[in-house]
Amino acid sequence: MTPRTPDSSQSPAGARDAGARDARPKVTVRTFREMKQRGEKITSVTAYDYPTARLADEASIDLILVGDSLGMVVLGYDTTIPVTMAEMMHHLRAVVRAQPRALVVADLPFASFQAGPEDAVRNSARFIKRGSEAVKLEGGKRVLPQVEAILAADIPVLGHLGLTPQSVHRFGGYRVQARGREAGAALLEDALALERAGCFARVLAGIPLELGAEVTRALQIPTIGIGAGAGCDGQVLVLHDLIGLSFSKPAKFVRRYADVAGTIRGALTTFREDVRAGRYPAAAESYAAAPEAASPEKDPCAS
Ligand code: KIV
Repeated sequence: MTPRTPDSSQSPAGARDAGARDARPKVTVRTFREMKQRGEKITSVTAYDYPTARLADEASIDLILVGDSLGMVVLGYDTTIPVTMAEMMHHLRAVVRAQPRALVVADLPFASFQAGPEDAVRNSARFIKRGSEAVKLEGGKRVLPQVEAILAADIPVLGHLGLTPQSVHRFGGYRVQARGREAGAALLEDALALERAGCFARVLAGIPLELGAEVTRALQIPTIGIGAGAGCDGQVLVLHDLIGLSFSKPAKFVRRYADVAGTIRGALTTFREDVRAGRYPAAAESYAAAPEAASPEKDPCAS
């Protein structure tokens, strides 16, 4: 896709000064295997709307995930369980309008694929028709029939193993997974099964760093870690955690690169104080009347 340059005469003020778009070629599913072969680390963040998708792309992030984490991060749900296909589609459309160079992957929400391959293919196809270039779904061997059916429909799949948030009730909370030897071996088996099925990459979430590295070594396809240590082929973070725009205590693996919540709070407080004190708007921020309207009215009957 060709990056779109905003028409400054049409775009809102905020979009006018957007930074340079990445000139590198479009990222496709093939890019990731090549990156793994070159030992080049993969970068990924979530985005749920047009501005954050644009900013992620301007920063040359490789993979934009329209994650079902949007339910907790921007819709205020307690878990990702209530997220619907309609909500995912709404946010996916906004992300796709940014026409990112990054690969766009949409997350199949809870109950959109668990019932079987037919649901999985139908809902994945809805994402693809709306501009997603791949889908992600949580689970290993248990969802292999769904993964195979989606792939057979020519839709690329990103796997997701370890701490799978849609299983929160089975796990009894958000806990690090596969800490023991047996559970680690089972996760490795899941990972190999998904690779054999044809997934182009796999998210490894909330597992010991040693296991993250072991799975990464054992696979031809890349692993993208989140709380899975530095041994993975790449890293993904929820954007709002990374920029400090979330309200809960960040998980151990989150590194905060900015305090956007603090910046917004500060800006809003200053705005309120300026309005109250009559400092905003200034004359330079106001429109003047047209010169003729400012001059004394002429008598239309006078000759
Ligand atoms: O929904 C999401 O954001 C995710 C990432 C945490 C990988 O699944």
